[in-house]
Amino acid sequence: MTFQDQIKQGIPATLPASKSYPADANRAPKRKDILTKAEKQLAVRNALRYFPKEWHSELATEFAQELNDFGRIYMYRFKPDYAIKARPISEYPANCQQAAAIMLMIDNNLDPAVAQHPEELITYGGNGGVFQNWAQYRLTMQYLSEMQSDQTLHMYSGHPMGLFPSSEEAPRVVVTNGMMIPNYSKPDDWERFNALGVTQYGQMTAGSYMYIGPQGIVHGTTITVMNAFRKVLQPGDSPKGKIFLTAGLGGMSGAQPKAGNIAGCITVCAEVNPKAATKRHQQGWVDELIDNMDALIARVRQAQANAEVVSIAYIGNVVDVWEQFYHSDIFVHLGSDQTSLHNPWSGGYYPVGVSYDEANRLIRDEPELFKAKVQTTLKRHADAVNKHTAKGTYFFDYGNAFLLEASRAGGAVMADNGIDFKYPSYVQDILGPMCFDYGFGPFRWVCTSGKPEDLDKTDAIAAKVLTEMMAQAPAEIQQQMQDNITWIKDAKQNKLVVGSQARILYADAEGRMKIASAFNDAIARGEIGPVVLGRDHHDVSGTDSPFRETSNIYDGSRFTADMAIHNVIGDSFRGATWVSIHNGGGVGWGEVINGGFGMLLDGTNDADRRLKSMLLFDVNNGIARRSWARNAEADFAIKREMARTPKLKVTLANRVDDDILARLPL
Ligand SMILES: NC(=O)c1ccc[n+]([C@@H]2O[C@H](COP(=O)([O-])OP(=O)(O)OC[C@H]3O[C@@H](n4cnc5c(N)ncnc54)[C@H](O)[C@@H]3O)[C@@H](O)[C@H]2O)c1
Repeated sequence: MTFQDQIKQGIPATLPASKSYPADANRAPKRKDILTKAEKQLAVRNALRYFPKEWHSELATEFAQELNDFGRIYMYRFKPDYAIKARPISEYPANCQQAAAIMLMIDNNLDPAVAQHPEELITYGGNGGVFQNWAQYRLTMQYLSEMQSDQTLHMYSGHPMGLFPSSEEAPRVVVTNGMMIPNYSKPDDWERFNALGVTQYGQMTAGSYMYIGPQGIVHGTTITVMNAFRKVLQPGDSPKGKIFLTAGLGGMSGAQPKAGNIAGCITVCAEVNPKAATKRHQQGWVDELIDNMDALIARVRQAQANAEVVSIAYIGNVVDVWEQFYHSDIFVHLGSDQTSLHNPWSGGYYPVGVSYDEANRLIRDEPELFKAKVQTTLKRHADAVNKHTAKGTYFFDYGNAFLLEASRAGGAVMADNGIDFKYPSYVQDILGPMCFDYGFGPFRWVCTSGKPEDLDKTDAIAAKVLTEMMAQAPAEIQQQMQDNITWIKDAKQNKLVVGSQARILYADAEGRMKIASAFNDAIARGEIGPVVLGRDHHDVSGTDSPFRETSNIYDGSRFTADMAIHNVIGDSFRGATWVSIHNGGGVGWGEVINGGFGMLLDGTNDADRRLKSMLLFDVNNGIARRSWARNAEADFAIKREMARTPKLKVTLANRVDDDILARLPL
């Protein structure tokens, strides 16, 4: 059967043979055994809904076994036999090109070269699912192959509820992931309801079919590190020979050394797992591997003396590095951390003074002892960081819950007021005021022809558009424009493509609209094939997350999620090809609501109209909210946008003098 026929078939007519997992597969961790016996029966009953009655007895036993073995029912026997990867759009069997574009993006998210645990349909983050099981994948692809351009497919946490009549103006797909009644949004609720097969953790770009491999995180980290250096260096001084000390060489954190090299500093990145460190070294993402503290100190002194740009992986615990660098009087310009502290008790963060293998044994056999050791380590970690910052190191939280967990463990990370943390998050100090508040965020695109030449042409178009815009841009955003022009010019040589022919850069609303419009013109002229536009949910307007994306909102509204919801609803009637809204994401279930869109550009006037209408709102919704929260940069940006856009009129905040408040009898 051809690839096309297999897609059109959906659930096969005859029961496929059961499958075993490939020996070399990077398997998802076994999930918590949380269901009662009755709930396990319900989970199997739920799973069998996808299949005819005559298969139930055989499949029930198999699914119960999956539930016992892995804590989830993946329906592995239904994984298709064809290679799952982004194919050229013309290869997908579809009645409308928008549906074919979505199929391409789904397949990219499940490509073994791209996805973290492809057998379990997990794209990244350990739990970021595209679907809960293989029946959902098959049915969704079948629906997309049948879809007409006046139908909409509604996706409930991976489950395709069905095609509904709509209109050509409507999104082709509406995705929700993990939307819960608020009282049922604790981490164990995810474990329970995901095991029952009724919800999933979509992360940000996994469940919205918008993941493009590690390029996105390399870009975001590069922008962050470059701007962090600007905060600490004198104008004109270079990051060369200056140290960025951090930890983690895992899925996302592995981007740090590459970003450090692009930003032009010495990156020292500690990683306790030798396999993770070696993998990043073999991939060329980190220049040197060192497993001995004396050798590390000697090498770092040499790199400082020679003003080198180099990245060094230290195989060991980051707490040792912070402490030993202090004793050896090595000055650290920038410090951060990207261990997985959103998951501190089951392997996200390793205690100091315990070998990696022993720590893994403790997680399994003595979880309470492991927890105590993690807490002690976090306190030491905070103390060592504090000693460096007292000497002038700039330390920021990188959205991994380091400050939150260090504070919970009793670490000295609280500010004098006892409410705030002593150190800023990267959004509070860097991405928020320097990027998001001006509308700069992670705009991305995928060339659906699959041709690298198309990507080169789009890179050139984007560079030209940004260069022309920069000539007219106000001083406030010149630096952001220049950073992204440099990024896009170097992007090809930095070899960032994994999977689909995709690119990311940060642009504001005007930049995104102009770049997209120029792409659409190039498609109309036949110079390139259709292009999918999208973005990370981690953006100006996409994400409400009080300790990350909206941590620089100070009017109390950072604990609300209206912005992300408005974003998705607003995009959906302004021309998005698909929209998605998720509970969960990088900081954990119940801690964030995030949304995004995908849009196919096909070179038509209609696409041009849609992109202008939708991108204007997609960015300015968040700027308006940030301006209302009294963020000065957003106030500047929204006033500039209103001057440019006649029908845009947003409510502006009046500022009250502090002394009026100080006089109040409160
Ligand atoms: N700010 C952002 O934009 C952003 C982006 C991505 C990820 N994150 C956050 O960063 C964290 C890491 O993400 P990831 O995908 O790389 O996770 P990951 O689990 O794949 O990698 C973390 C790595 O840290 C290592 N580690 C743990 N404790 C250590 C210690 N004490 N010393 C040295 N190494 C240690 C682990 O062995 C692991 O390889 C997550 O919490 C994630 O949410 C933030």
